[in-house]
Amino acid sequence: MPDPILRTARLTVRPMTLADADDLASRRSDPETAHLQGWEVPYPLERAVALIDDMIARGGPAPGGWSQFACVRHQDGVIVGDVALHLDEQGHNGEIGYTLHIWARGQGYATEASTAVLNYAFTVWNLHRCAASIDPRNAASRRVLEHLGFRHEGTMIESFWQGETVTDDARFGLLRREWQARRAEARSRADVLSASGQPH
Ligand SMILES: CC(C)(COP(=O)(O)OP(=O)(O)OC[C@H]1O[C@@H](n2cnc3c(N)ncnc32)[C@H](O)[C@@H]1OP(=O)(O)O)[C@@H](O)C(=O)NCCC(=O)NCCS
Repeated sequence: MPDPILRTARLTVRPMTLADADDLASRRSDPETAHLQGWEVPYPLERAVALIDDMIARGGPAPGGWSQFACVRHQDGVIVGDVALHLDEQGHNGEIGYTLHIWARGQGYATEASTAVLNYAFTVWNLHRCAASIDPRNAASRRVLEHLGFRHEGTMIESFWQGETVTDDARFGLLRREWQARRAEARSRADVLSASGQPH
């Protein structure tokens, strides 16, 4: 299957190549970002290379592991961040994560890019369910998941270990039929607005 190049209003969301490894490692090396996601600081370049290599070995984004997508701004060709998608061997269950450069946050990019990756996963891979797992203190990430339509399904108390520190783990989920219903609703809202001549 050819590599997907996903286009949104402001971004091209494309599978990473090894040329993106430096950028990925530097973004994940920000101490606050790493702290929220249980990564060591600095994030090792070799680990970034291994993540991208693993996807390339599967022939691009495909079931059986994590895939890393770079989010490139149309306006200037700059990478604002990444979306990571995990698909299990059968392609039934997935998981999503995202990280933006600090300077790119608060502009809706994570929601925009993740929407494209979820569309891809639910339609191209026929994914049944997508999950996400966050530190409950991560209010920005929780907002993104709410924007995407994820449901908070519970919080596992003191279950996520980072060295000798343990934190709670908030779990979210979204089913394909729920995603399809949201898309259909968004389309019919857009149709009503365009029929009434209102900008949308
Ligand atoms: C989480 C993250 C990707 C969000 O990216 P983003 O592009 O800023 O997200 P969006 O702009 O699409 O939406 C962010 C929402 O969170 C809100 N928000 C941001 N910081 C917040 C905070 N500290 N407290 C409460 N809400 C916050 C914003 O107001 C916005 O909500 P709104 O759209 O209702 O106004 C980004 O903050 C990041 O990279 N964080 C570090 C990595 C990380 O935590 N990844 C998630 C783990 S899977």
